[in-house]
Amino acid sequence: MVAARILRALAKKPDLVLGLATGSTPIKVYERMVRAHRNGIDFSRVRTFNLDEYLGLPADHPQSYRYFMRKHLFDGVNVPDDNIHFPPTDGSDLTKRCGEFEQKIRDCGGIDIQLLGIGRNGHIGFNEPTSSLASRTRIKTLTERTLEDNARFYGPDETQPEVAVTMGIATILDARSILLQSFGTAKANAVHAAIEGPISSFWPASALQYHANTTFYVDEESAARLTMREYYRRVQRAEADSEARGLM
Ligand code: GLP
Repeated sequence: MVAARILRALAKKPDLVLGLATGSTPIKVYERMVRAHRNGIDFSRVRTFNLDEYLGLPADHPQSYRYFMRKHLFDGVNVPDDNIHFPPTDGSDLTKRCGEFEQKIRDCGGIDIQLLGIGRNGHIGFNEPTSSLASRTRIKTLTERTLEDNARFYGPDETQPEVAVTMGIATILDARSILLQSFGTAKANAVHAAIEGPISSFWPASALQYHANTTFYVDEESAARLTMREYYRRVQRAEADSEARGLM
């Protein structure tokens, strides 16, 4: 569904601006995009901005998000290297360069579609709990919980980075549309807090309630704590019906 939405948008706008996420959640979407390219879909004018990257990992480190994106998407589609952007994580003057990253997004006309996953603690990108809802791209220290969740990817001799650079919550909210995916029981509390909780920097994804065009794509496990599940199902059916009748 998510990949289909991206491909429909691409058909309408060949120079689509995509905000991209890492983690296990979006991998299937990237697989479908790669398959679409093999079947002739052109990505040569697409521009991409990734949400976040670890500080201090070189691009060829298997745990870096640049490596992840190459492996799961960029090696399989024809987005030109010059069109691929990550928050700055090496070199000096990161604060200034984070500002330039934000400017680059604006120069491209803003992000059309932002893909998101969600952390168990409700983080989006690496905006950990208590991140300012007005935050922009910046350095962020990771919480113990996030470090624990990602520790399994590191070998005993490898140092796990504790700091990352991430788009801010306000950066994410600037996107024209946001598609958040969540799978599995471990995310059920975060999904509940994001959709049905009060807006709070303690659950960063709850800031999406401010966004006029956000869709959550969740499985039964991640939806388990939603109190209005039946209503959301009806909304989904009604929207599908309206779409089929050409009303949307
Ligand atoms: C990391 C990323 C997030 C991602 C989260 C969940 O912390 N910075 O963007 O949403 O992991 O990962 P997963 O999809 O593997 O559960």
